[in-house]
Amino acid sequence: MTTRTLQTLHVRTFGCQMNAYDSARMEGLLRERLGLLPEEDPDLADVIVLNTCHIREKAEEKLFSELGRLHKSRRGRPVVMAVGGCVGQAQGSAIFRRAPFVDIVFGPQNYHRLPEMLTRILAGESRVLDDASVAEDKFESAPPVVAHQGVGQVTVQEGCDAFCTYCVVPFTRGREWSRPVAEVVAETERLVAHGAVEIHLLGQNVNAYNGPDEQGTPFDLGLLLRRVALVDGVKRIRFVTSHPKQMDPSLVEALAEVPEVCPYLHLPIQSGSDRILEAMGRGHTVADYLHWVETVRRARPGVALASDFIVGFPGEDEAAFAETLALVERVGFDHAYSFKFSARPGTVAASLPDQVPEPVKKERLERLQTRLNAIQWEKNRQRAGRIEEVLVEGMAPLGKGHLSGRTPCNRMVHFPGDAEWIGRTVRVAILEGLPNSLRGRLEKEPP
Ligand code: SAH
Ligand code: SF4
Ligand code: F3S
Repeated sequence: MTTRTLQTLHVRTFGCQMNAYDSARMEGLLRERLGLLPEEDPDLADVIVLNTCHIREKAEEKLFSELGRLHKSRRGRPVVMAVGGCVGQAQGSAIFRRAPFVDIVFGPQNYHRLPEMLTRILAGESRVLDDASVAEDKFESAPPVVAHQGVGQVTVQEGCDAFCTYCVVPFTRGREWSRPVAEVVAETERLVAHGAVEIHLLGQNVNAYNGPDEQGTPFDLGLLLRRVALVDGVKRIRFVTSHPKQMDPSLVEALAEVPEVCPYLHLPIQSGSDRILEAMGRGHTVADYLHWVETVRRARPGVALASDFIVGFPGEDEAAFAETLALVERVGFDHAYSFKFSARPGTVAASLPDQVPEPVKKERLERLQTRLNAIQWEKNRQRAGRIEEVLVEGMAPLGKGHLSGRTPCNRMVHFPGDAEWIGRTVRVAILEGLPNSLRGRLEKEPP
């Protein structure tokens, strides 16, 4: 009998940046502990991990169709199939029933035990499930992620206690928990040593951060931003995603006073109607939101604002939707994500009366996106003629010799240049604002 060995790994990531971060840590961990090397083609990999998202029904459907496709194309070849992330947490062993060829199911708090789970499969176990929920352990055992193209990400806060009535995150990611300041700083230092100049601090509710410093004194996000900015080599810091009800003066002051903190705030509002915000359990009004928008704009002129919207929440009538459109005109968002309400099992909103019919949701989403896109394009056009400092992230898909990178306001810029500048910041003259990006020309070569 031949002993089975595992050599290559393919990780597919669905969902948010926190999942992308977790995927990078899984890759690092499995390389370090089991020597698994990354394999881009899933049909050639010995281990396939799907790191999944449960946020909307569509994301979940995608998972099962992808699983079926992967199973077919392996044509009997032995492959270890693992489903991790938020669907793993939410559905647990039900995944084995729907996709019997899956070997391992685990949740977002358990990926640090993947080496043991794989070893159990090699030892002959057929189905391994790990969905216990403790966030603390995983940060201790996984190696730090490596920076890509000058950008390094650090998860600073896990889970969510907000329990918005439509959302599964508090169930899949568990209770809110902040990493200690020293850990965040140490990880930032390692990322910088690997070439990162821009650091992203990640959390489902990142401005609820309240991790302890070395003396046990809790830091809020404003203080954490100031501390991370002190790390040698950090040129830019972003933080996502913030909740309006957790906004505070400390964060606004950090945005105003710390030059490394990018002039960019992702502050989801979801709806422009107070009645709907209340039914969503968001814990703030439209007026509260506008207050923070004005405060932040006054404190950091030119700050880019991004938001998320849900249309067709139960009970949303035409008048309530019109309030969302009015808010969009009033604020003028630089960027936004918008979704149709998706009734998620186990959430309060799924069983509310007055569910909005699918065609109405679709039509409202189109109307909202038409306005959001037009405003975004207009804001991009207003950048023409400026010089922007761009962190070069890679070659652009536009064609040969074009680089792509981001401005401090998080706008994508394409311009002609050499691959050697990837991971560095350059000055770019903006020639044109396009619907989703800017087109520019290199202003000055980097030193
Ligand atoms: N923690 C962040 C975002 C988490 S999920 C926050 O509260 O701002 C990202 C976005 O997905 C949310 O902002 C919301 O717009 C959307 N979303 C979450 N649950 C949803 C659902 N059931 N249906 C449709 N969109 C949803
Ligand atoms: Fe979900 Fe609300 Fe928490 Fe965001 S704040 S993750 S929408 S429960
Ligand atoms: Fe999705 Fe889980 Fe992130 S549900 S959005 S992957 S926290």
